[in-house]
Amino acid sequence: MPDTAHTEPKTYSPSADIAARAHINAESYQKLYDASIRDPDAFWREQAKRLDWITPFTRVVDASFDPGNVHIRWFEDGEMNVAANCIDRHVATRGDQAAIIFEPDDPADGAQTITYRQLLDKVSRMANVLLDLGVKPGDRVVIYLPMIPEAAYAMLACARIGAVHSVVFAGFSPDALANRINNSEAKVLITADTAPRGGRRTALKSNADAALLHCADDVRCLVVKHTGDQTTWVEGRDLDLRTLMEAASPDCPPRAMNAEDPLFILYTSGSTGQPKGVVHTSAGYLLFAAMTHQNTFDYHDGDVFWCTADVGWVTGHSYIVYGPLANGATTVMFEGVPTWPGADRFWEVCERLKVNQFYTAPTAIRALMGQGNEPVEKHDLSSLRVLGTVGEPINPEAWEWYHKVVGKGKLPIVDTWWQTETGGHMLTPLPGAHVLKPGAALKPTFGVQPVVLDPQTGQELAGNDIEGVLAFKGSWPGQMRTIWGDHERFEKTYFADFPGYYFSGDGCRRDKDGDYWVTGRVDDVINVSGHRMGTAEVESALVAHVAVAEAAVVGYPHEIKGQGIYCYITLMNGADPSDDLVKELRQWVRNEIGPIATPDIIQWAPGLPKTRSGKIMRRILRKIAENQTDSLGDISTLADPSVVEDLIQNRKG
Ligand code: WTA
Repeated sequence: MPDTAHTEPKTYSPSADIAARAHINAESYQKLYDASIRDPDAFWREQAKRLDWITPFTRVVDASFDPGNVHIRWFEDGEMNVAANCIDRHVATRGDQAAIIFEPDDPADGAQTITYRQLLDKVSRMANVLLDLGVKPGDRVVIYLPMIPEAAYAMLACARIGAVHSVVFAGFSPDALANRINNSEAKVLITADTAPRGGRRTALKSNADAALLHCADDVRCLVVKHTGDQTTWVEGRDLDLRTLMEAASPDCPPRAMNAEDPLFILYTSGSTGQPKGVVHTSAGYLLFAAMTHQNTFDYHDGDVFWCTADVGWVTGHSYIVYGPLANGATTVMFEGVPTWPGADRFWEVCERLKVNQFYTAPTAIRALMGQGNEPVEKHDLSSLRVLGTVGEPINPEAWEWYHKVVGKGKLPIVDTWWQTETGGHMLTPLPGAHVLKPGAALKPTFGVQPVVLDPQTGQELAGNDIEGVLAFKGSWPGQMRTIWGDHERFEKTYFADFPGYYFSGDGCRRDKDGDYWVTGRVDDVINVSGHRMGTAEVESALVAHVAVAEAAVVGYPHEIKGQGIYCYITLMNGADPSDDLVKELRQWVRNEIGPIATPDIIQWAPGLPKTRSGKIMRRILRKIAENQTDSLGDISTLADPSVVEDLIQNRKG
């Protein structure tokens, strides 16, 4: 968590050379921002020229956040194709330029360049394979792949034929995968034999096999033989994707899609229940990803852009694939991990590929900071111009290290605040425009209107030097449109608590200069290594174990991960609270959800603090996990206040 205490933060002004070269400087930011709010229609009409349209739109936006009638439509009578915007239109002018540079897990295998022309060939072939399988516009395709070029081909192949993709992070378990295939009613699953990461291999295909046992019989499975590792093979269901692509025609005209046709579903954790299928549509999403990619990173033609995220998360969607490719950029796809084969992997790749913009997560920065400066300093990082972070608040120490050691005290850091739901950057400094403050996401992007609300009254807090919850007034083109199959839940989750606004779920401060500082979630979502984790999901995994009667999960401060997962568990009568059971439960959650959900701490709780109406008081559990037991607040409303004493006595960590 950043120190958002009201002390004077250090500030860093943009250097003259960066500002001089930047697309946006302080003056043009203010001018454009004001214009984007004063007349959104005119602003977005102009921005929409970033895309190639098949049928021009006449209406810019029709959106309402009114309870009972929430709808969001942008450019709704326009037609275009996302893949054509990311590939075809660039082939004429930059066919031989690298679109993707694939950096494999093992550097000894060597980086591989895919030009725009080659990208067109691969994507068209894969699109034809999908068409041959009977995939129709609007059908869902689940993608469960390592960070290999086929992941991007698959997303773009879907976009080309109007199918809706849903990428599932390769670290998710078979159960989590099956859930997503079933919830989206997918027709096809695209996976690979195994996924190498940090020299180890995840058995993706066998996970897929396990998942498909719980899915409809007619789901087909396309398999990329990536490592050549042995896998089982179900005749009639499993197909070798590379072989089919070789045989397929390289000619597949992009289909004209309506601006509001769904492009993808991406599942993300909420504070309650099952993960939500966040739905993004075509034109507005792509436009917002492209605009923010160019402005936030000050991307110029010919630059090499590297976002280290995984395509299983929204960051990989918007800033590895869609934003960069819409801008005709060269985007790096990295299969590996930051610390393998050595702690200098990121910096070695930056030097070798001459990366210009580098975008990663605070958790990676903190982990690398722990390895000292030598791994950074032994590489020539002079190609770098902009550094970025995303996923969680960055603590000022990590920010300073990133700036001083990686950025040599000169490079701007863009601390980008956004969400799966927002499609692209909402709050961020721009490299040539803003005075930076370590830990602050600072300013809204164009067309975006942040407000800070009083959490009790829901009133907008006016003026500066105020703190509350972060919400947004009015729509922006990258906004999610609905939750797949559950529009009511969409309204309830984002628009019910504070009618008339989109509510982010984050807390926020606007400082005396009017700059924004995001302080973290205010709901039961925790942020583990920049990954969103619903505590309810971990709890329901835990209670599915025979030995567990009840479980309550909260976050606690963790040096590297930002937040760790702290579980209070009440066992069934007769279950043995042994160390073996701790191990077993950790493994159990890994199997149920995936390694990212592995509990860090398990504490046996003979009882949980509950109100007389039976509601668990998480506030108290959070305080105990954070070791702030002297500020528990009022516990007199508890049904049995004595349980608190036991929990404090036996606190772990
Ligand atoms: C958090 C990731 C502070 C926040 C793009 C948000 C951040 C959640 C930042 C969304 C940041 C993301 N500063 N907090 N720069 N970026 N967050 O959907 O709590 O995986 O609500 O999207 O991450 O996570 P998601």
